[in-house]
Amino acid sequence: MSADWLARIAAAGDLAALEAERVAALGKQGAVTALLKTLGGMTPDERQREGPRIHALREGVTEAIAARKAALEAAELERRLATEMLDMSLPVTTGAQGSVHPVSQVMDELAEIFADLGFSVATGPEIEDDWHNFTALNIPETHPARAMHDTFYFDRLDAEGRRMLLRTHTSPVQIRTMMSQKPPIRIIAPGRTYRSDSDATHTPMFHQVEGLVIDRGIHMGHLKWTLETFLKAYFERDDIVLRLRPSYFPFTEPSAEVDVGYSIEKGRRVIGGSDGWMEVLGSGMVHPKVIAACGLDPDEWQGFAFGCGIDRLAMLKYGMDDLRAFFDGDLRWLRHYGFAALDVPTLSGGVGA
Ligand code: DAH
Repeated sequence: MSADWLARIAAAGDLAALEAERVAALGKQGAVTALLKTLGGMTPDERQREGPRIHALREGVTEAIAARKAALEAAELERRLATEMLDMSLPVTTGAQGSVHPVSQVMDELAEIFADLGFSVATGPEIEDDWHNFTALNIPETHPARAMHDTFYFDRLDAEGRRMLLRTHTSPVQIRTMMSQKPPIRIIAPGRTYRSDSDATHTPMFHQVEGLVIDRGIHMGHLKWTLETFLKAYFERDDIVLRLRPSYFPFTEPSAEVDVGYSIEKGRRVIGGSDGWMEVLGSGMVHPKVIAACGLDPDEWQGFAFGCGIDRLAMLKYGMDDLRAFFDGDLRWLRHYGFAALDVPTLSGGVGA
């Protein structure tokens, strides 16, 4: 009897078959259950003889079912582990996939250089209104500079009836910063700018960095020292020579365009020396009208500002010659001129390293 049951339980091929055997043996109508019930009708002698045998049978069957169940479950788990396995050893595509665009790299370099001089990074919206982009910068409605900027205008006006546009320069961030922070102020504002213009040296979207310092007693000497320190750190050369040419911008007075000297080495222009001059940025002392437009007293606060094309800075340092390639998304160009993602510029390691 006992051997029969144990054989049947051992032969149960899956959990359903095992459950059927359990019901057949130990269920309400089960054979072992029926045997247990016979104990009630036995004489004490018979019961003493049969009792232990029947109880042992029930125990043996229960144990055998539990053991078979565990074995079947373990086998099922093995099967699932084998069939549902993910091969984590599949090779990942080797080699770095992306690279840091030279524009991002130069922006990081600028942030690093100017952080060391105590400047923080400020931002402003690319969709601006004409007050921040022009009027507050001393470029009134009828000013010819508005036409010079080839502005992309939107049809919509903002809530205050100001005309909306894509900012033509990063200078509106000067205004936003002076209106939201108390001087002393030292910021740079790198970002995208837009003008309706396109050829080998102009793209409709390009990048600028604005610099602004507002404090008491600021003069052109501070401007010149800051630009010299910046350009030496950026080009990683000590023989950088600057030339400040008198110029005109509505938002600065006096204004200066800054040229950096280059020399010819093996037929190529190299920054440094003074064989020739290349214009790199516009600058000047912030116009008192601009300071006043931001609610500050120009008799108390003075400052300098500068604006510089980031794409051009990248071209000069890394030797690209067509600006349009910056925005083509050509993988070969990006692989050649891009920077490794972990190559974070630091002053100690060389900002362009
Ligand atoms: N905003 C000027 C431009 O886009 C550049 C510039 C010139 C910015 C002189 C300045 C500055 O802050 O002082 O052409």
